[in-house]
Amino acid sequence: MTVIDHPIIRERLTHIRSVDSGTADFRNALHDIARLMTFEVTRDIETSMLEVETPLKKTDGHALARPLVLVPILRAGVGMLNGFTEILTEASVGYIGLYRDEETHQPHSYYCKLPPHIADAEVILIDPMLATGGSAADAADELKKAGATRLRFACLIAAPEGVAKFEKRHPDIPIFTAALDEHLNKDAYIVPGLGDAGDRYFGT
Ligand code: PRP
Ligand code: URA
Repeated sequence: MTVIDHPIIRERLTHIRSVDSGTADFRNALHDIARLMTFEVTRDIETSMLEVETPLKKTDGHALARPLVLVPILRAGVGMLNGFTEILTEASVGYIGLYRDEETHQPHSYYCKLPPHIADAEVILIDPMLATGGSAADAADELKKAGATRLRFACLIAAPEGVAKFEKRHPDIPIFTAALDEHLNKDAYIVPGLGDAGDRYFGT
């Protein structure tokens, strides 16, 4: 797991965590963090050499070796999507819909729409919260079932319990997070966390 530590990320995360932040402040800060995280999340993505001609001479250039696919988990993953697409403007986007049962904390799948070329792509799964890890791990199962083999997972806040579960079920998928928090409470919320990410982002 990689914790992406950066002063601007830390400052924006403070807005996101604050109970006094409204929807606009929450949205803007989440967008900024996703945008900043893109650099580290894609750092080791493969490129291939190609020749480019400047107005002066031919020289070495680089192309991305594979197409990019971004997959936010509905709903809250949508809050990080535009931050990624502002940098990765060429990326295709798929969606996986999951909600967590409030009693059992188990994820339930209700939607999956993925681009057809997912097997050839570098895939970035996106969800702000890695709590018990059930939602992200099930989403990764769906991506693998669809043929994806090159995967990474980007979140905003992870709990140690979620990291452990995700790494056990998907040891091949690197996790990138902006923060690693203390623990889960009895309702499986991340502490200190930010509360309910979907409700805060969508103002519900
Ligand atoms: C939240 C969050 C994750 C999930 C994390 O979604 O966005 O998808 O909980 O919890 P887990 O790691 O314990 O599975 P939620 O189920 O609240 O749905 P929503 O985004 O539609 O509000
Ligand atoms: N989902 C959230 O939105 N927040 C948490 O703390 C845990 C799961």
